[in-house]
Amino acid sequence: MEIETGPTIPRVASLRTVQHFREHLQSLGLSIPCEEELEAGVASSLAQPLVKSGFRIGNRIAIHPMEGWDGTADGNPSESTLRRWQRFGLSGAKLIWGGEAVAVRHEGRANPNQLLIDGNTLKGLAGLRKVLIEAHRQTTGSDEGLLIGLQLTHSGRYSRPKGGPEPRTLYRHPILDKRMGLTPDHPVLTDGEIDGIVEDFHRAARLSHELGFDFVDVKHCHGYLGHEFLSAHTREGRYGGSFENRTRFLREVVRGIRSVAPGLEIGVRLSVFDLVPYRPDPKRSTPGKPATGVPEIDRQYLPYRWGFGVNPQDPTQIDLTEPMRLLSLFEEIGIRLANLTAGCPYYNPHIQRPALFPPSDGYRPPEDPLVGVARQMEMVRQMKQRFPNLIVVGSAYTYLQEFLPHVAQGALRQGWVDSVGLGRMVLSYPEALWDVVTGQPIKHKLLCRTFSDCTTAPRNGLPSGCYPLDSYYKLSDAARVLEAVKARGREN
Ligand SMILES: Cc1cc2nc3c(=O)[nH]c(=O)nc-3n(C[C@H](O)[C@H](O)[C@H](O)COP(=O)(O)O)c2cc1C
Ligand code: SF4
Repeated sequence: MEIETGPTIPRVASLRTVQHFREHLQSLGLSIPCEEELEAGVASSLAQPLVKSGFRIGNRIAIHPMEGWDGTADGNPSESTLRRWQRFGLSGAKLIWGGEAVAVRHEGRANPNQLLIDGNTLKGLAGLRKVLIEAHRQTTGSDEGLLIGLQLTHSGRYSRPKGGPEPRTLYRHPILDKRMGLTPDHPVLTDGEIDGIVEDFHRAARLSHELGFDFVDVKHCHGYLGHEFLSAHTREGRYGGSFENRTRFLREVVRGIRSVAPGLEIGVRLSVFDLVPYRPDPKRSTPGKPATGVPEIDRQYLPYRWGFGVNPQDPTQIDLTEPMRLLSLFEEIGIRLANLTAGCPYYNPHIQRPALFPPSDGYRPPEDPLVGVARQMEMVRQMKQRFPNLIVVGSAYTYLQEFLPHVAQGALRQGWVDSVGLGRMVLSYPEALWDVVTGQPIKHKLLCRTFSDCTTAPRNGLPSGCYPLDSYYKLSDAARVLEAVKARGREN
């Protein structure tokens, strides 16, 4: 990798011991749990069953939804999709949170290769669940305590069903609309169109239930439609303005699912805070290198009325008042599964998926990525403390690399989180935490180093996968195309 990261951000791999890692955390002013000795076998915190609010989940490892941009044009899984789900099963995780984003209608697909849930894709989706369960049994010996959900989505502002942008927005966003080249008369979704999308979610949930999924995730994160509702302060009508209106979509979706699929559990993956969009600093751009990210904020945008979980007077700062209210609402409407994440991969990727190396449309990290990890962990800690009956899954652990198991173990033991979710790490090294549980040495060569190729590839029309570390992608034709794309990027 040739991208300079600057002298102030040491690579995690260069921190040789837990003690060095702790000292580095301290130098950053961070305080997250990190245990020296790893436990294995039945004593391991990771191996403890999660028994809460009527659930019995077999261990504390979760797999986050990870899309591969590799479905067929009609929304069915391909061989690569099957392989990825099989690897989710090999992880030994007992909580499979959603598999990957599956669109409830064609126009809401984030790319022409996103999975779709419809009559013609049922067999394909059933096949994904089947290979996952088989691989899981192979790894752990049994599927007892295995909980599998399907993530249902509409991509809203980031819809690209035919490849090019076809944004379906809920309100005019002064920064994002400009970035996306939307004119002031770009139509926003009408209340009637939204009612139709709500019905799509009902139908998709019923089909998921028939396919045997234990729960559906009504996706509310990462800038997609569900998430955009939460910041629709400036929208008029039934779905915008007041907190009640901004959460109407969620309430309507949940109400309908209860009636068409009784017994199906419902979870929500939520960007608890999204913060203002970032961009490469125009003052610090040098040819061939991405510039450091800076918040795109100007006095004219204050108070900031286009965010969720942000301080309107300073939208680079978190404000958990409304997210707390939302989690209270989860409890009121019987949602017991919450997967907490933050930010958006399109406008502030360093908040959402802390990485040392930016994707091709990103910027150099404006902070040590460990600050990003700690930010999400601390938010999850606060939420779990306030809502002890919710099952809370935490995100953004991958950047911890060697120290992921040490931090995961500490976070579980100190009650910061109920289940530790793996995102990118599962692409390069599915068994990363299972190896710890079974007392195997960590395979350092497989640890995700946050090179971001799994994001750069789809941004350039290629399937996502771990190109640097997984030979299935490393040796593919797409790897050569990706290399050429990156070389062109450096030249420009
Ligand atoms: C290639 C890629 C695909 C992703 N696909 C999804 C998705 O379909 N749904 C979702 O909620 N998050 C998705 N994410 C976000 C991850 O689930 C996770 O929140 C993020 O990578 C941070 O966790 P990590 O540090 O363990 O990687 C994706 C991330 C990457 C890198
Ligand atoms: S391409 Fe591989 S190493 Fe890079 S961020 Fe993705 S999973 Fe990690």
